[in-house]
Amino acid sequence: MSLNSIEEIASYIVSEGKGILAADESNPTCGKRFDSIGVDSTEKNRRDYRELLFRSSGMKNNIGGVILFDETIRQSSEDGTSLVDLIKDQGALPGIKVDKGLQPLNDSSQEVVTLGLDGLDERCKEYVALGARFTKWRAVIKIGNGLPSDECIDANMKALADYAKVVQDNNMVPMVEPEILMDGDHSINDCFNASERSLKSLFHHLKENDVNIKGTILKPSMVTSGSDADVQASIKEVAEKTLECLIANVPADLPGITFLSGGQSDILATAHLDAMNKIGGFSWKLSFSFGRALQAPALKAWMGKYENMFISQDALSHRALMNKLAALGEWDSSLEDQ
Ligand code: 13P
Repeated sequence: MSLNSIEEIASYIVSEGKGILAADESNPTCGKRFDSIGVDSTEKNRRDYRELLFRSSGMKNNIGGVILFDETIRQSSEDGTSLVDLIKDQGALPGIKVDKGLQPLNDSSQEVVTLGLDGLDERCKEYVALGARFTKWRAVIKIGNGLPSDECIDANMKALADYAKVVQDNNMVPMVEPEILMDGDHSINDCFNASERSLKSLFHHLKENDVNIKGTILKPSMVTSGSDADVQASIKEVAEKTLECLIANVPADLPGITFLSGGQSDILATAHLDAMNKIGGFSWKLSFSFGRALQAPALKAWMGKYENMFISQDALSHRALMNKLAALGEWDSSLEDQ
């Protein structure tokens, strides 16, 4: 694959219904996922699990990029092939999480800001040498008790824009991820407002920093009800409100929007994506960058046992195909039973 410019890289990742496998769980987060199946989070187990995912046949044609964690981009598989090469052999591009996690916005704050600008340029140079073509930075916005504050939105969106500029100067595509957390009992309208304020601020700062929008991918959350809300918005309402918010606030020349799943069940995340693509009326590719919603069935099938490798790979391949169909607006719930 000779993709030289950031525009080509970004377009390739989301071409023909392809999306992104988010496999960039930090070691503590991976530990939580492994706890749920009673597996120790050792370096070898993390490697074995990711190797299994990246060798799944359904990676091909359905997954255009894989986001890795620092440990994973340096690991090799059982037979000595680097995990980066396994990903490339599947026709996907390796990406890397470059943020350094969250810290309180200020002493009294319940809000957080993402760290990682210090030393980012040097880290990017190393990751390019290790084979990365794109990067991810996650900002976290909470809803509730008058939150999010303007200060929190501005600090996080400015950091996303500063990060994006450094990454593009290193000829990689930045994924900018403003995640509006689903946690809480807020309404879908509260989520719409927080999403809109965040997107307006994000694109303002990206423009100020002269970030090339055609070489950028947006990774947003969908506009949903809070996970504890009594009334949960329907699939149709989530699709319509998410599209309304994106169409009003995202430049038309952005090549791709790839959603995070944020705690939605695997099938619901697919159903929402499909509903939006069936509605249509936008110029960007609308696809997926799911972590849990792609991996959960594969993780459950694996249980840390070698003999479960094939059923686990089938589970990942199935979700990858279902989400590709959803990115094309060609999914149907009946396909889940086959
Ligand atoms: P989820 O799809 O599990 O939310 O993970 C995506 C991700 O990369 C979060 O930063």
